[in-house]
Amino acid sequence: MTADAAKPKINRREFLNLAWLASLGFVTLQFAGGVYLFSMPRFKAGEFGGVFTVGKTSDLPSAGSAPLAFPKVKLWISNTDQGVFAIYKVCTHLGCLYNWNTQENKFICPCHGSQFQLNGEYIRGPAPRSLDRFVLQFVDSNGKVIAQTDPATGGPVPVPSNPDAQILVDTGKRITGKTHN
Ligand code: FES
Repeated sequence: MTADAAKPKINRREFLNLAWLASLGFVTLQFAGGVYLFSMPRFKAGEFGGVFTVGKTSDLPSAGSAPLAFPKVKLWISNTDQGVFAIYKVCTHLGCLYNWNTQENKFICPCHGSQFQLNGEYIRGPAPRSLDRFVLQFVDSNGKVIAQTDPATGGPVPVPSNPDAQILVDTGKRITGKTHN
């Protein structure tokens, strides 16, 4: 008997079965990978699109003073006589990043001059609506939400008496600003 004759031979049918099993395994792995990626959170905490910790109650500016800027997550935090607002830092006209103007005490967009109040409401210019807002929450040391944005309008949130309450902003929950006539 020759050496070749001693080797077990694989016929065409067995080869096709093996190829089919290999491709089935490959497809199963791809599906499992897809399910895993889909089940992961899309945004990490602290990134735009996720929940961002702004600071605590005692970090807020006094009511009516200049807002706090958080450029990394395109956010302004405004403290007004009505309460606190989390405002999206993108103009509702054509998407420029607007600024706070300390002399005029309002937001002014450098692109086409739209203007907005400290709470994000439209004043004048080509922007079709007030600034968009995010959902903001004050959370105590037990993780309990003690005050939060009206999800329909984006605010305002009264400042809680707890100076250590954490301020969380969900930049994945944008509330479209009100249109004007
Ligand atoms: S993009 Fe802001 S006014 Fe046009």
